[in-house]
Amino acid sequence: MKSSLLLASSLSTLVSSLSSEIAADAPFHYIPIDYNYGYNERVTANLTYGTASDAQPVRTVLDTGSANFWVWGPDAVINYGSQYLGFTGPCNTSVPLEYDLLNSTTAVVTNHSSYYSYGGNSKILSGTQYSNDTITASGGNGAISNTQFALATHGQLRQYDNGSCLGTTYDLAILGLAPYTTDLYTAGPLFRQTLYETGAVAARTVVMWFNQAVRVGEKFTGGALFGAIDTSKFTGPLVRVPNAGGAVGLYVHKPLIKINGKTFNTSYATDCLVDSGTHADSLPFSYTDNQESAFYNATNGMLMAYNGVVAYNGPCSAIPANYSIGYEFAGVNANESITINVPIRNYARSSSSYANASDAATVCPLNMDLTSDCIFGATFFTALFLAHDEGDGSIAFAQGGVASDGSELNAASFRAFGAGESF
Ligand SMILES: *[C@@H]1O[C@H](CO)[C@@H](O)[C@H](O)[C@H]1NC(C)=O
Ligand SMILES: *[C@@H]1O[C@H](CO)[C@@H](O)[C@H](O)[C@H]1NC(C)=O
Ligand SMILES: *[C@@H]1O[C@H](CO)[C@@H](O)[C@H](O)[C@H]1NC(C)=O
Ligand SMILES: *[C@@H]1O[C@H](CO)[C@@H](O)[C@H](O)[C@H]1NC(C)=O
Ligand SMILES: *[C@@H]1O[C@H](CO)[C@@H](O)[C@H](O)[C@H]1NC(C)=O
Ligand SMILES: *[C@@H]1O[C@H](CO)[C@@H](O)[C@H](O)[C@H]1NC(C)=O
Ligand SMILES: *[C@@H]1O[C@H](CO)[C@@H](O)[C@H](O)[C@H]1NC(C)=O
Ligand SMILES: *[C@@H]1O[C@H](CO)[C@@H](O)[C@H](O)[C@H]1NC(C)=O
Ligand SMILES: *[C@@H]1O[C@H](CO)[C@@H](O)[C@H](O)[C@H]1NC(C)=O
Ligand SMILES: *[C@@H]1O[C@H](CO)[C@@H](O)[C@H](O)[C@H]1NC(C)=O
Ligand SMILES: *[C@@H]1O[C@H](CO)[C@@H](O)[C@H](O)[C@H]1NC(C)=O
Repeated sequence: MKSSLLLASSLSTLVSSLSSEIAADAPFHYIPIDYNYGYNERVTANLTYGTASDAQPVRTVLDTGSANFWVWGPDAVINYGSQYLGFTGPCNTSVPLEYDLLNSTTAVVTNHSSYYSYGGNSKILSGTQYSNDTITASGGNGAISNTQFALATHGQLRQYDNGSCLGTTYDLAILGLAPYTTDLYTAGPLFRQTLYETGAVAARTVVMWFNQAVRVGEKFTGGALFGAIDTSKFTGPLVRVPNAGGAVGLYVHKPLIKINGKTFNTSYATDCLVDSGTHADSLPFSYTDNQESAFYNATNGMLMAYNGVVAYNGPCSAIPANYSIGYEFAGVNANESITINVPIRNYARSSSSYANASDAATVCPLNMDLTSDCIFGATFFTALFLAHDEGDGSIAFAQGGVASDGSELNAASFRAFGAGESF
């Protein structure tokens, strides 16, 4: 999710089948990912922290929009209930122990302060210790030892509560995938850099994909590979697109937007954040020059504005599987471009935007809005095959969402990268 300015400053059978089927000539790590059905879901993986005998997997956000890696430490408290930035709310809640570092024989804890801020400071976390420990991805290709992450012990969420303190929802852990930069938002710990420095991968690459959608109301399954690629997870060419640089996260130049045979070059001159830790897509259409109404007109009444978001003009279950929106990105080479087609029904994620419950029979609010920002969130990732090389900063896109739901790594199309190799 978007980092913000600081104000003051298993499946064990699967593991064995994978390691026997995949003959890799370089080290790599595979982390299965999913994207649950729900309005505020993001790209997640089940990671087990440490080696305590009763350690359970923790649902961890895999976030291309931030760089640091943290999990809740012991005795953590979250404060909430103020709708104003920077104010302590009336409510707090204890975070159940999820990383039992005292019972993890592999834990090495050091004193180190941490301070992370997300979403315009609406979510602030801090702690005083880091841990180096083993983490294990459910369904992955084995434990990753000596991984460093921060232990958050205090959280402050900006979230209104009427004083009853009925509870809050919060992330259990965030693993940042955004590349290291020299600014303070990437103070670390940095998962990708640690993987590379400890020799757990030989190349500083990550690729991420989702499989085909099942139906509206289902979660998506997919994977992330560090130091390797599986080319059966996309179709067509993998095209390098310019890295637009800028703030923390992956930024690309804005694409042309294609719907129902019409093409739009949106009016806002902005680059786009590619952010697996954001729940929705925001497209930079301007309402002041009629571009927004031209967009809706182009859909011949299939899409409509509804309660601040883009909606399908019918119930969610009726969205045709072949109805999609295309995003055409210019390539690094002037003769190349890549269009990512996202099925519209992938945007139906149990929206909270209904004006009233009776509308559900006639309209389907989507996880898509038209604003001055350009953000490609988890919804976009359902159809994207993303490749990023932290070594040279290159970003490449291909059409994802093609492998069958729940599919595993494919030995025939798998390749691990040696030192100096890339996608
Ligand atoms: C994570 O764990 C949940 C609960 O066991 C399971 O339903 C889901 O498939 C798992 N996801 C991944 C990516 O391992
Ligand atoms: C819980 O919230 C109250 C404010 O209502 C605060 O005074 C108290 O210190 C908080 N407790 C912790 C452990 O943060
Ligand atoms: C964890 O450690 C505590 C003492 O620190 C002990 O009482 C408890 O039994 C341990 N649990 C496990 C599962 O080893
Ligand atoms: C770590 O911090 C704690 C609490 O401030 C302190 O008691 C301890 O001595 C520190 N450890 C080291 C190695 O500095
Ligand atoms: C706060 O909201 C809850 C649920 O909406 C309601 O049950 C409760 O009565 C409200 N409390 C106050 C003090 O308004
Ligand atoms: C913990 O991990 C960091 C990052 O890889 C590394 O610099 C540090 O040496 C490690 N500490 C120990 C005690 O292994
Ligand atoms: C789209 O508009 C931008 C300005 O916002 C311009 O730089 C770019 O060349 C345009 N692209 C095309 C394909 O017309
Ligand atoms: C959209 O369609 C309406 C009615 O068909 C028309 O009046 C309006 O000018 C169109 N708007 C744009 C921006 O094309
Ligand atoms: C989608 O499929 C339907 C029939 O299955 C067809 O009538 C329609 O033209 C298709 N639309 C697109 C955009 O391909
Ligand atoms: C585009 O140009 C580059 C360099 O000139 C070349 O290597 C590449 O094959 C070309 N791509 C296509 C699709 O023609
Ligand atoms: C629900 O909202 C629609 C407008 O979106 C309105 O026409 C309808 O009367 C509302 N129904 C109720 C029961 O409030």
